[in-house]
Amino acid sequence: MSDSRPEGAVESLLHEDRTFAPSAEFAAQANAQPSIYAEANADPVAWWTEQANTLTWDTPFTKSLTWDLPFATWFEDGTLNASVNCLDRHVDAGRGDKVAFHWIGEPEDDTRTITYSDLLAMVSQAANALEALGVEAGDRIAIYMPMIPEAVAAMLACARVGAPHSVIFGGFSADAIADRVNDADCSIVITADGGYRRGAAAGLKQQVDDALKSCPQVRNVLVVRRTGQEVNWQEGRDLWWHEYVETQPANHAAKSFPAEHPLYIMYTSGTTASPKGIFHSTGGYLTHVSTTHRYIFDVKPETDICWTAADIGWVTGHSYIVYGPLTNGVTQIMYEGTPDAGGRDRWWRIIEEYKATILYTAPTTIRTFMKWGDEHPASHDLSSLRLLGSVGEPINPEAWIWYRSTIGGDRCPIVDTWWQTETGGIMMTPLPGITAPKPGAAMTPFPGISIDVVDNEGISVAKGEGGFLVVNAPWPGMLRGIWGDPERYHETYWSRFEGRYFAGDGAKRDDDGDIWVLGRVDDVMNVSGHRLSTAEVEHAIVGHDDVAEAAVVGASDDTTGQAVVAFVTLKSGKEVDANSEAEAAVIASIRNHVAVSISPIAKPRQIILTPDLPKTRSGKIMRRLLRDVAEHRALGDVTTLTDPTVVAMIDALMAAHASDDD
Ligand code: WTA
Repeated sequence: MSDSRPEGAVESLLHEDRTFAPSAEFAAQANAQPSIYAEANADPVAWWTEQANTLTWDTPFTKSLTWDLPFATWFEDGTLNASVNCLDRHVDAGRGDKVAFHWIGEPEDDTRTITYSDLLAMVSQAANALEALGVEAGDRIAIYMPMIPEAVAAMLACARVGAPHSVIFGGFSADAIADRVNDADCSIVITADGGYRRGAAAGLKQQVDDALKSCPQVRNVLVVRRTGQEVNWQEGRDLWWHEYVETQPANHAAKSFPAEHPLYIMYTSGTTASPKGIFHSTGGYLTHVSTTHRYIFDVKPETDICWTAADIGWVTGHSYIVYGPLTNGVTQIMYEGTPDAGGRDRWWRIIEEYKATILYTAPTTIRTFMKWGDEHPASHDLSSLRLLGSVGEPINPEAWIWYRSTIGGDRCPIVDTWWQTETGGIMMTPLPGITAPKPGAAMTPFPGISIDVVDNEGISVAKGEGGFLVVNAPWPGMLRGIWGDPERYHETYWSRFEGRYFAGDGAKRDDDGDIWVLGRVDDVMNVSGHRLSTAEVEHAIVGHDDVAEAAVVGASDDTTGQAVVAFVTLKSGKEVDANSEAEAAVIASIRNHVAVSISPIAKPRQIILTPDLPKTRSGKIMRRLLRDVAEHRALGDVTTLTDPTVVAMIDALMAAHASDDD
């Protein structure tokens, strides 16, 4: 683990002491009333048990928590079906005609309205199709799809037949797909011909075809026709969704699975080059996401129109588009495209037209809207909104205030929610009818969750001090492990501070005891809310034929939070002159190589070619110094380097290329 870099950010945050209490009207009608903290924290396990009983169980559980560090089980002897909890129970209660999704495609006027009954029929057909393809409980299925209703149906169909899904973000390249499909040994892939990105049809099936050249275990590929673009077809393996799924019976008798049956795997970046397959359970996870969704977003299923503007390929889409909102039976907006497709006011048009009441998105998106100008939201009626949420990275006070006034009309509480792929659901947040949040602070642990900020020795820091964020006790939605690697699970999360979960984030406890999350303290970058590991990007860069060595750091960036900056040494004989065309060409080629090996989101913002990298005598690259260089800070201690002049040289190279940023 490297140093705790975010200290620099602390000083400016500490000047932020404004608070924004909810209105009396909001507070009075809120799902969470102040007594919730005392009730939950008096006996967290009993409180979570009460929450678990809001789900529909086929076999009621008798045990709540079993904790055998680092392995927890929750509600272990109960059985249930996740898709029944999301769909059947609402339909059975007479709410089948309620809209589950107002779906809005990227092309104008391409919309669908999907009720709970419609979604149940889609899911039943897909579940029948999976069973007809020989899928059994426990088999893994990969999903690589655009933001279309079939993506939700595919996930819930997997859940229905007990096959853990592994959703792979639609921006990942063929290599990244292959790694994930092989790591989880998936036997079926569900995809689409393509998806719309900024008006163009981008191929998805094509990436899957390339990936599957190295995944011989995949028996079938189900393909939704979305764009109508040309695709290659492998007879016997590939099946069209409209031919194979939509001709299946529209009812399906769901089986019940133990609470600890794995619901899904989600790959996320750690500190090594290979992503970790985080897996989640069924009963505990559903309890966590359903409860947090109900209290934090204050949802009223009869009247709210919720919009979680996140991709289904990330954990936010899993927890707060699929499993949380659907267990709670709310109506949602699902939008396929980018924020500026069809104009920079596209989101605000959607909110006006569908009368969205709750909006949940990421700081990077909020900052982008700020840059685009107030005229876009100002030209629409956003008065239907009553609550705003933020997730994915620390939100700077300026963006928080803009979000509150320009989007929320100074009326809507903001919930800044801290959590991770690993935690399954929200862990720290204001509660909208109770807390008077400070702009930029995640404030307090959710009821029933115990969090601390500790120093190197694991001792709680005093008010006004910074340290490492830890979770003190198991919680229902916690990851159950890293797929196929229990040791890495123990080592990564439970060994740094004995018996406590180490989140990898730095945090500060302010003078009132409220918590501010400052960002990662390990070698994980957060670019536009996407997690990337420095090692993963370095691995991709050194895979380029001309590259000898690379060091990657996350440097702060006004819009994306952090940006990837790479320091690269070329192989001897491959060197190029500074500022030459050859240099521009090799840099472009390295960036492209990263896009193809991982994803365009991992492309370095800047690549500095340097004849040497700063190393300690033991050969370790000093990333801390490179981060100083990338962020144009005074250089830290260089005395441990084999060659202290290297950093100054790189600093000069960086200054010479200051105008390269794009
Ligand atoms: C960061 C996304 C500050 C943090 C749900 C965490 C945040 C990582 C916040 C997890 C927040 C997320 N304030 N930082 N409200 N929310 N983070 O796994 O560094 O994609 O460790 O999960 O995002 O990212 P992940």
